[in-house]
Amino acid sequence: MINTAVYYALSDIYLKGSWISEATKRYLPGSGVDPKSFRLIHSVVERDFLAEYRISRLTDRAPKTSAKIILKIGMALLDVFDMPEYAAVNDVIEMTKSLGKQGLCGFVNAVLRRYIKEGRALYPEDPVENLAVRANRPLWQVKRYIVELGIEEAEKRLLTVKTEHGHIRPARSFGKDSLRKELEERGCVYEETEHGFYINGTCMWPELYMEGKATVMSWSSIEVCETIPYEGGLILDLCAAPGGKSVYLSEKFDAKVVSCDQYIHRVKLINDYAQKFNAKKISTILLDARELIPEWKEKFSLVLLDAPCSGFGSLATNGDVVLHRTEKDVEEIIKLQKQLISVAAEYVKAGGVLAYATCSDLPSEDENVVRMLLSHNSRFTLEKEKHTDPVKGGGESYYCAILRKK
Ligand SMILES: C[S@@+](CC[C@H](N)C(=O)[O-])C[C@H]1O[C@@H](n2cnc3c(N)ncnc32)[C@H](O)[C@@H]1O
Repeated sequence: MINTAVYYALSDIYLKGSWISEATKRYLPGSGVDPKSFRLIHSVVERDFLAEYRISRLTDRAPKTSAKIILKIGMALLDVFDMPEYAAVNDVIEMTKSLGKQGLCGFVNAVLRRYIKEGRALYPEDPVENLAVRANRPLWQVKRYIVELGIEEAEKRLLTVKTEHGHIRPARSFGKDSLRKELEERGCVYEETEHGFYINGTCMWPELYMEGKATVMSWSSIEVCETIPYEGGLILDLCAAPGGKSVYLSEKFDAKVVSCDQYIHRVKLINDYAQKFNAKKISTILLDARELIPEWKEKFSLVLLDAPCSGFGSLATNGDVVLHRTEKDVEEIIKLQKQLISVAAEYVKAGGVLAYATCSDLPSEDENVVRMLLSHNSRFTLEKEKHTDPVKGGGESYYCAILRKK
C-alpha cells in the first residue's frame, strides 16, 4: 500500500513550489516514522526530468499535473523499489482510488503497462537533452555548466553518483568511538568516514541529537571547516544558520564565534543548536550581512562567509533545488554573493583570513566571485581553493577558498 501522503506531499512540491522538507514535515510528521514513503517522495523528485520526458513519449496528450504525479510515483516504484511489476502497478491503482480519482485508474494503468514494456529504454537523442534527463536537471542548467566548464567536466559534475544516506558526526566532547558504539547498540547499518558516519534513514539516532551527542553534518561541510586555518582570535560567521560551521569551528578551536544571519527564525536555529551542543562561546546577531558595520572593520582574525547559493553542489540532500531554482534566481544569488564577499573582506584584520564557501559547484558562484574580490581588493591573496571530493561527499561537492589579507 502506498501512503496517500506521498501524493499530497508531491502535489505541494509540484503545484505550490514547496520544498521537500516542508512537504514531508506537513504530511509525514515525525522523523523516521515512514521511511518508505519518505524515500518514494525523494525518488520521484530525483527522477523528475527523465519521468517527464518518458511520460511525454508514452502519452498523446499532456496529462494534468495530478495524473503526472501518480505516474511518476508508479515509475519510481517500478525503477527504485524492489517489488514485482504487477504489485507496483496494483499499489498505484489502489492509491489512485483512495485519492478519490477513480476516473484516472484506466489511464494510469495503461501508461504504466506501456512504461514496463517500452518506456524504460526511452532517452532523448539530442546529447544535451540526454545529459539533462540523466542528470535530472533542467536544460538551462546543463547548458550553463557546459558553457562554464566545457562538456567533459560538466558531464563529470552533473553525473556524480549521489548517496541516499545522511552523514552524522559526533560532538567533539562525545567522540567518534562512543558514537560508533551507540550506532551498533541500535543495530544501525553505517559507513564510517574520517569525519563521522553515513547512516540510512532507518537508523533511529535522533535522541543522540537531543542529548547533544551527534548531529547531521554533511561530509563536505565538515571538509570545508577542516580546510579553514585558525591562528587565534575572534571568528565572524556572517551567514551562519543553522549553525553547523559555527558550532564545529567553536568546538574544534575552542574559539569565540560571532554568528549572524538575516532571519530571526534562523538565528533561533543557531541558538538552539549551540545550546544543544553546549557551545558557550557562540554569540548570535540578527544581521543583513550586506550592511557594513563600521565598528567591525579589521576586527576579526577569521571571517567565514558561507554564502547563500544555488545549492547545486548539495543535491544528494537537497534534490528539489533542481525543480524550483530559475536562472534568474541564480543570477540574483551571484549578485548577492559578490556584495557579501566585498563587505566580509572589510572585517578581516591585517594578516587574517577570509574563508569563502558555497555548496555549489558552479564556477560563477565560486571561483568567479573570489576572482572578482581579488581584482577589486589588492590586499587579498588566494592561499587555497578547492572543491570537496564528491565521491567521499556522497555525490555532494562544496567549494571553499582561503584568502589572506595583507
Ligand atoms: C549556506 S547557509 C549557511 C549554512 C551554515 N553556515 C551552516 O554551516 O550551518 C546560508 C545562510 O545565509 C543566510 N543569509 C542569506 N542572505 C543573508 C544576508 N544578506 N545576510 C545574512 N545572512 C544571510 C541564510 O538565511 C542562510 O541561513
